[in-house]
Amino acid sequence: MNNKDSASIDRREFLYRAGLGAAMLNVAPESQAQGAGGLAPPKKINVAGIGVGSQGGSDVDNVAAEGANIVALCDVDFKYAAKAFEKYPQAKPFKDYRVMFEEMGDEIDAVVIGTPDHTHAVIAMEAMKRGKHVYCEKPLAHTVHEARALMAAARKYKVVTQLGNQGHSFPTIRRLCEWVWAGAVGQVHTIHAGSGDFREVYNQTRNLDKVDQHYDTPPELDYDLWLGPAQFQAYTPFWVHWNWRGWLRYGTGTIGDWFCHVIDPSFWALDLGAPTSILAETTDYDPAKQGLTYPSGTKITFEFPAKKERGPVKLVWHDGSNPIPTPEGFPEDARVPGTGAILIGDKGMIVHGSHGAGGCRLVPDKLLERYSGSNTPAETIPRVKGHHWDWLEAIRTGREAGSNFGYGGRLTQVALLGAIAIRFPGETLLWDDHAMRFTNNKAANAYIKPAYRKGWRL
Ligand SMILES: NC(=O)c1ccc[n+]([C@@H]2O[C@H](COP(=O)([O-])OP(=O)(O)OC[C@H]3O[C@@H](n4cnc5c(N)ncnc54)[C@H](O)[C@@H]3O)[C@@H](O)[C@H]2O)c1
Repeated sequence: MNNKDSASIDRREFLYRAGLGAAMLNVAPESQAQGAGGLAPPKKINVAGIGVGSQGGSDVDNVAAEGANIVALCDVDFKYAAKAFEKYPQAKPFKDYRVMFEEMGDEIDAVVIGTPDHTHAVIAMEAMKRGKHVYCEKPLAHTVHEARALMAAARKYKVVTQLGNQGHSFPTIRRLCEWVWAGAVGQVHTIHAGSGDFREVYNQTRNLDKVDQHYDTPPELDYDLWLGPAQFQAYTPFWVHWNWRGWLRYGTGTIGDWFCHVIDPSFWALDLGAPTSILAETTDYDPAKQGLTYPSGTKITFEFPAKKERGPVKLVWHDGSNPIPTPEGFPEDARVPGTGAILIGDKGMIVHGSHGAGGCRLVPDKLLERYSGSNTPAETIPRVKGHHWDWLEAIRTGREAGSNFGYGGRLTQVALLGAIAIRFPGETLLWDDHAMRFTNNKAANAYIKPAYRKGWRL
């Protein structure tokens, strides 16, 4: 970082203090938010994209569409990410995010991260240490320790953060919260949720006998950087680009991929926090034989203790070959979602699809009549223009973004606890959230903070 560049320091300090203001003021209401110290907010925020071959590329497009300057792009595979590099020819290209940060210094205000799950934490941490605001794809991290460390760092470095669960900024999730808070379905005691999508990628049992063979690493891929902090495994095409989702070392399975979308509405509406117990049941799965990949189907039961006005909540996650069941009393004309959730209260149910409670509906219909039209609960949660807009606007105005790491980290943690439980099918794991450990399973605790490869640290 060039500390003598006073023009860029002024600009960077403004952005930094904007974040500081949000933290200190505990988030001003949107209408009152303004630039720190009365300074006019900068017109453009300089953003670097890291991991832009697929979802990260669309995040870059989204922030560019909201007025951000794309000043740098970083990807370990220029071929896979070629589209993004072609689209933003003015952006400086990099393979190594550490080199990018060193060379670009204060030219970068903020980053969007779209790398596989196992490298989110090291990259987001490096960015925050350098005072950059961060938009990081979901799930926030690969391990519980990483998620907690990122949450703490966001507070420490006072940067504006956003998890990439874009549905958090949709109007439907806000409507769902307002229904729950208005008592539309009474006390919610059970949630059935999950996803049956993309099954072939999460369970890679069919490829287990191929991953020991030799494959040449493609010349365009910096595989060492792709691995990042993960322990070394020789290259195979089965690990990288999209496929990483199905391998425990790099991805987080169906639950890691979908939980932050599908459970976000319940997590927000019911302030779920942390579970006290987690029980995974798996289909056709022997961790001793198939333990490199995720099961073809799981059912994971989380118990959340009573909190404030609400009672205890049981959340049952269903995925892959194990679809969401039809709950007792479910109306015949309603459809159980393939990916989505059913919140069951003592007066009725809410059914919704994935991102941001898409297609959310009250059942039975008489409830919908009672809580729609002129009886729709007041919009107590402000509506926002979009998720990327929300993050950029938070940077510009010195407030926190909606799914900041404090929120998104807690949401991610639940998914990661589920991913650990999959390694111990049939065993109820008891979780002490304060101590950040399981109280009844030493072996499971080893997955809270697995060792990084030599040379890597958070
Ligand atoms: N919010 C959503 O709707 C949504 C949708 C899809 C994916 N995602 C999330 O986005 C992330 C990426 O998923 P994907 O499907 O785009 O994966 P992908 O494998 O298709 O793309 C990842 C990109 O990151 C690059 N990369 C890998 N390691 C890197 C490193 N160390 N430094 C720089 N670049 C690196 C790869 O070369 C590739 O271009 C995941 O965390 C995933 O869960 C979110």
